[in-house]
Amino acid sequence: MYISSSSSSSSSYYCCIFWFNWVLCLISFSSATDPYVFFDWTVSYVTASPLGVKQQVIGVEGQFPGPILNVTTNWNVVVNVKNNLDEPLLLTWNGIQQRKNAWQDGVSGTNCPIPAGWNWTYQFQVKDQIGSFFYFPSLYFQRAAGGYGGIVINNRDVIAVPFETPDGDITLFISDWYIKSHKELREQVESGVGLGAPDGILINGFGPYRYDSAVVPDGIAFQTIYVDPGKTYRIRVHNIGISTSLNFRVQNHNLLLVETEGSYTVQQNYTNMDIHVGQSYSFLVTMDQNASSDYYIVASPRFVNSSAWTKAIGVAILHYSNSLGPASGPLPDPPNEYDTYFSMNQARSIRWNVSAGAARPNPQGSFKYGQITVTDVYVILNRPPELIDGKWRTTLNGISYLAPSTPLKLAQQFNIPGVFKLDFPNRLMNRPAKVDTSVINGTFKGFMEIIFQNNDTTVQSYHLDGYAFFVVGMDNGVWTENSRSTYNKWDGVARCTTQVFPGAWTAILVSLDNAGIWNLRAQNLDSWHLGQEVYLSVVNPDMDKNELPLPDNTIYCGALSSLQKDQAQRVNFSRASRCPVAMKTILAAVFLALFGTCFT
Ligand SMILES: *[C@@H]1O[C@H](CO)[C@@H](O)[C@H](O)[C@H]1NC(C)=O
Ligand SMILES: *[C@@H]1O[C@H](CO)[C@@H](O)[C@H](O)[C@H]1NC(C)=O
Ligand SMILES: *[C@@H]1O[C@H](CO)[C@@H](O)[C@H](O)[C@H]1NC(C)=O
Ligand SMILES: *[C@@H]1O[C@H](CO)[C@@H](O)[C@H](O)[C@H]1NC(C)=O
Ligand SMILES: *[C@@H]1O[C@H](CO)[C@@H](O)[C@H](O)[C@H]1NC(C)=O
Ligand SMILES: *[C@@H]1O[C@H](CO)[C@@H](O)[C@H](O)[C@H]1NC(C)=O
Ligand SMILES: *[C@@H]1O[C@H](CO)[C@@H](O)[C@H](O)[C@H]1NC(C)=O
Ligand SMILES: *[C@@H]1O[C@H](CO)[C@@H](O)[C@H](O)[C@H]1NC(C)=O
Ligand SMILES: *[C@@H]1O[C@H](CO)[C@@H](O)[C@H](O)[C@H]1NC(C)=O
Repeated sequence: MYISSSSSSSSSYYCCIFWFNWVLCLISFSSATDPYVFFDWTVSYVTASPLGVKQQVIGVEGQFPGPILNVTTNWNVVVNVKNNLDEPLLLTWNGIQQRKNAWQDGVSGTNCPIPAGWNWTYQFQVKDQIGSFFYFPSLYFQRAAGGYGGIVINNRDVIAVPFETPDGDITLFISDWYIKSHKELREQVESGVGLGAPDGILINGFGPYRYDSAVVPDGIAFQTIYVDPGKTYRIRVHNIGISTSLNFRVQNHNLLLVETEGSYTVQQNYTNMDIHVGQSYSFLVTMDQNASSDYYIVASPRFVNSSAWTKAIGVAILHYSNSLGPASGPLPDPPNEYDTYFSMNQARSIRWNVSAGAARPNPQGSFKYGQITVTDVYVILNRPPELIDGKWRTTLNGISYLAPSTPLKLAQQFNIPGVFKLDFPNRLMNRPAKVDTSVINGTFKGFMEIIFQNNDTTVQSYHLDGYAFFVVGMDNGVWTENSRSTYNKWDGVARCTTQVFPGAWTAILVSLDNAGIWNLRAQNLDSWHLGQEVYLSVVNPDMDKNELPLPDNTIYCGALSSLQKDQAQRVNFSRASRCPVAMKTILAAVFLALFGTCFT
């Protein structure tokens, strides 16, 4: 039997029992000892006033940010997502590799959206992964309104972590934020109007501490992090924003970098770290100060000049239990260069700890990526928004992605012709920019080199689903074959999101060992929304069975709509969640029959 969560807060429990047929199916693919963890999440609008103005944000289980998915390597995660928004929804699990299981990736090329009032149950294993990631809604600019939350994948007990167990684990989401709704913002972006300066920078959904009464209005709720002197905390920081690179720092405290997006790094102290959109870092922070006052935690925009941005600084408070008073005085200084020199050097200083084991006991560096022969090279050039057929679009190699009504993965499964072409060019072609559904034809077990060349005037970051890639080089100017001589072939960090500075390039290497169709996207929401994404198809020619089968609960749309059985009917989950026990147990149904009312 299936024991459901009955509380409205996020709850979870492990279970090694059989549920629906498709759970049975997955069990046969995974070790019997890997536990299952179940979540029941309602995604709905909630009211919040992060900058002192009431607005509609997207909550998960009523929380903004949403609950943290706290799991351990190889666990099987089952999340029943109930869409209580007024728009279709997909959650994507940013950084979770979904090995052989693109069905669960939650992006438009792999899944039909969950219609408003429907639910859909994700089921995936966090196979061979550790580290700090996050989930977010992948459609319609919804991330600009929230709907995100942290994913923590803990090491299995048998695998050593390359540092002492911290005294606490803290997740911080930093983000640019607008008072306009995600719908207004996406219309603005579609009409070619830039987003302009954000109204503020949030930390965990809260506005700034009033560090300067001339800048921050009274009455704004801020985030306080409570700590004890002498202790060491792991702080996981994610830039979940729309398009602003942020500099993160904690007054008077060192940030000892230990992990980024699933890789243990060489441990180095930083006084601040530039975190670009969609990037995640773990720092160990030791409470080694004298607590003469509280300390500022700051997230400030990078590479912007205009005075319109002075209000946009995120400030939270680090409060020691023995603190003698509130934080006061100026914020700690940001790095003062407007140019990207400091930031690029800092990025290059982030290295893989080749001797540390991650999810497996063997050292990370035993995968000697620098010795593998590259099989395919793609130089991918992005451009700022331009008009194509009268619409504002962004491109990669001159192609702006058009999401087909039938997801690519389903079109491939059902052999529906004409949905996409495997013809994404490996260079910018000498032809006009166009809107198209053009996919990269990856070679299974190939080793791909991708060079991102940023022709925009702002920092962009690019993310690949299904994989971690090695960041082997970045520099100003135009990449040439000679640039390869500068590559780090030894301890470039493996991660899933990299920044590309304006007028500069970043090179990555990726081993195509995960069959599926995988999204390669701009994490900057405005660039992404206007078409800066492509999919990478990696098919195992030996046997289709290499991938997990189509899930039984697949939602069908587009050319496959006729296969879709109607879900009972549209449900208002906020109403349903008031008596979930009554809905789910026979006992309660009996009560319901007797008394005709909900009792919880
Ligand atoms: C996550 O779960 C582990 C046990 O699996 C627990 O030790 C830890 O405190 C949890 N962390 C958070 C942030 O809930
Ligand atoms: C929706 O949730 C119900 C339980 O609340 C579950 O029985 C059903 O399978 C879910 N539907 C899908 C498509 O996941
Ligand atoms: C790398 O990991 C090893 C193994 O856990 C650890 O002993 C060492 O301190 C780490 N090195 C650095 C520079 O972080
Ligand atoms: C980092 O800084 C802390 C003090 O905040 C110090 O104790 C530690 O030794 C430094 N670690 C490294 C690797 O530099
Ligand atoms: C605490 O440290 C600050 C500088 O970090 C110093 O100015 C102050 O005098 C110290 N206070 C005490 C009580 O030691
Ligand atoms: C900011 O100012 C610097 C120096 O005045 C200039 O080089 C840079 O282009 C400006 N950046 C932006 C984003 O306006
Ligand atoms: C895609 O690549 C595979 C080799 O990996 C090749 O066999 C196939 O013909 C290619 N398909 C197209 C349409 O180019
Ligand atoms: C973009 O490309 C154009 C034409 O190739 C070039 O003149 C310009 O300098 C590039 N801009 C950036 C920021 O790379
Ligand atoms: C769902 O129910 C809640 C509470 O009863 C109500 O506020 C909300 O407007 C309803 N939503 C829809 C889309 O009907």
